[in-house]
Amino acid sequence: MNIVIIVGTNRAGSMSKNVALYAKSKYEAEGCNVHIVDLAELPAELMHPEIYKNPKPDSFTPFHDPILNADGVLFVVPEYNGSFPGILKFYIDLWQYPEAFEGRCVAFIGISSNQWGALRPIEHLQGVCGYRNAWQFNERIFLNHIWSRWNFEEQNFRPMTPKDLDYNALLDSQTKGFIEFCKVHAK
Ligand SMILES: Cc1cc2nc3c(=O)[nH]c(=O)nc-3n(C[C@H](O)[C@H](O)[C@H](O)COP(=O)(O)O)c2cc1C
Repeated sequence: MNIVIIVGTNRAGSMSKNVALYAKSKYEAEGCNVHIVDLAELPAELMHPEIYKNPKPDSFTPFHDPILNADGVLFVVPEYNGSFPGILKFYIDLWQYPEAFEGRCVAFIGISSNQWGALRPIEHLQGVCGYRNAWQFNERIFLNHIWSRWNFEEQNFRPMTPKDLDYNALLDSQTKGFIEFCKVHAK
């Protein structure tokens, strides 16, 4: 099964990238082929007023072909000003219409430094995915207070108190559930 994980920002030193790499290890442990799309690597030549025309430059192909061949796409999305980062919208606005989104299985991880764990960004992004007829996996994950919950030494999550949600367990559950979802719905 081909899974694409999108790092939903191009910010240098992104926490979303850490979480995406951790999620990658979970999917690989389940036997999936995983490709990470890191928006920090988008070529500067794409930032051009003519870019919405087709064909797109060859430099976009490695960012787009994996989406067209994905059984499932996992968005790892930080909260920026109460929504998802503009670079993510720019990126998906370059996807081929309608086949990139139409019937594509998608799942969501929201991350933020606040207590809501990027609920708003994910719901905004779900509006886009719904409009474009993606199959949305309903087990969303919201990782709040991410900077204090991330264990930089071990590159995984740590509980701050015994009552904290177990982020590792949430990710395990979403990973297994999304794979089963893709088995049923992937085109
Ligand atoms: C431009 C920008 C806007 C942000 N806006 C919010 C916000 O509205 N609410 C919030 O809780 N955190 C906000 N943050 C904090 C990020 O959600 C948080 O630090 C997250 O871990 C950043 O993900 P990243 O490291 O992948 O960029 C913002 C950060 C940036 C860089």
